[in-house]
Amino acid sequence: PLAQIGVTGLAVMGSNLARNFARHGHVVAVHNRSYSKTQTLLDAHGSDGTFVASESIEDFVASLEKPRKVVIMVKAGDPTDAVIEELAGVMDEGDIIIDGGNALYTDTIRRESSLKDRGLLFVGAGISGGEEGALNGPSIMPGGPAKSYESVGPLLESISAHVDGTPCCTHIGPDGSGHFVKMVHNGIEYADMQLIGEAYNLLRDALGMDPDAVADVFRQWNEGDLESYLVEITAQVLAHKDAKTGKPLVDVIVDAAEQKGTGRWTVKSALDLGVPVTGIAEAVFARALSGARGQREASKGLASGTLSAKPEDIETFTEDIRSALYASKVVAYSQGFDQIAAGSAEYDWNLHPGDLATIWRGGCIIRARFLNRIKDAYDENPELPALLLAPYFRDAVENAVDSWRRVVSTATLLGIPVPGFASALSYYDGLRAERLPAALTQGLRDFFGAHTYERIDADGKFHTLWSEDRSEIEA
Ligand code: 6PG
Repeated sequence: PLAQIGVTGLAVMGSNLARNFARHGHVVAVHNRSYSKTQTLLDAHGSDGTFVASESIEDFVASLEKPRKVVIMVKAGDPTDAVIEELAGVMDEGDIIIDGGNALYTDTIRRESSLKDRGLLFVGAGISGGEEGALNGPSIMPGGPAKSYESVGPLLESISAHVDGTPCCTHIGPDGSGHFVKMVHNGIEYADMQLIGEAYNLLRDALGMDPDAVADVFRQWNEGDLESYLVEITAQVLAHKDAKTGKPLVDVIVDAAEQKGTGRWTVKSALDLGVPVTGIAEAVFARALSGARGQREASKGLASGTLSAKPEDIETFTEDIRSALYASKVVAYSQGFDQIAAGSAEYDWNLHPGDLATIWRGGCIIRARFLNRIKDAYDENPELPALLLAPYFRDAVENAVDSWRRVVSTATLLGIPVPGFASALSYYDGLRAERLPAALTQGLRDFFGAHTYERIDADGKFHTLWSEDRSEIEA
């Protein structure tokens, strides 16, 4: 039979997606640059469904029904361009290429436009959920021409995670929008993990808990508002013992966090868009600091100054940390959704934030109970000026604010770094401030560069003649 969908690039993610399609009754064409990987897939999992294997890209494309639909799962960057070029060379007008990798959204915009000129439809699809998600149901964020979704949508929806019967897959918007929102998803993933890390660090260093005790706390937190995949697996990682030493695994892992780059991309894009995603930025920089191993080694003797005593009431402070984590998380998501709104405006994508919250409820790494609340917030008010101003989140943050301040001040007095908690709180205080020192910044800019300022009591731009008689003129 002709295959309904093809997958090329059969490393773990590609193989698992192909198997997921097969398990859902689709005939799946499979291809890999070196045939041995294809053979490995068929040998180990051929019984998952109907696979049609090809050695050459020509045979692979010929094994697909029209319009042909091929998912590519290869490394972002040049390898992706190379595979697209090969496929485009043998495909016909109306065929569809779906890039399921973590591509940079500006590459996706470029690829979509050049393939459109050649009569092909290009879908940049963010796919989240790791290896397990690819096999059992990921969250899928496909962008590209709306027309492509008519044929690709049902296939992708069939293999995606489902929550309350709703697929965690929807058409996101034109060209690079799918990869853009996947990028921001990953940025939020970085922020989430940083905040979890800070909470863990405080439970250990401020309250003296061992990893097993911290694991118990996270297990409890996972019963409430913080319920999420990342909190759940935090408890599992913390409870895990190293087979070699018998110690908690977390104590034998080198404390230098790596990154493949999507978090960094999110921050770069946010800088260009002028959106303060402080939570994501702090997370990226915290990984960078952790990775500066030589500098850290050399800095170990730096004086701490006089440190305060540790909190005595373990239960109360644990609850404070929980609240601070939740409030900081709301801030990080609010900022991420601001970036999505800004990207949508910049590229005319017309993105619907409520849809994103819906498809992030299951399958993806940041899946969480709290995403239902985000969806509700945008259903209630699609024009929400900021997520944290939605009634539910506003309440949550306002109720947490005393705890949040205690956690940030206590951590500071104990010399424990909390860049995520502290910057989220400063962001919150910045947002709610009656007046910001930006007025002084404007005054300084006007002094040294005649950059002008606006007045609170008149329209227009003004300049003070600083080096003359200091009278004011309208600019
Ligand atoms: C996902 C993950 C996935 C990957 C991250 C890891 O949504 O399934 O985000 O895309 O695991 O890219 O990113 P770092 O290596 O940069 O931490």
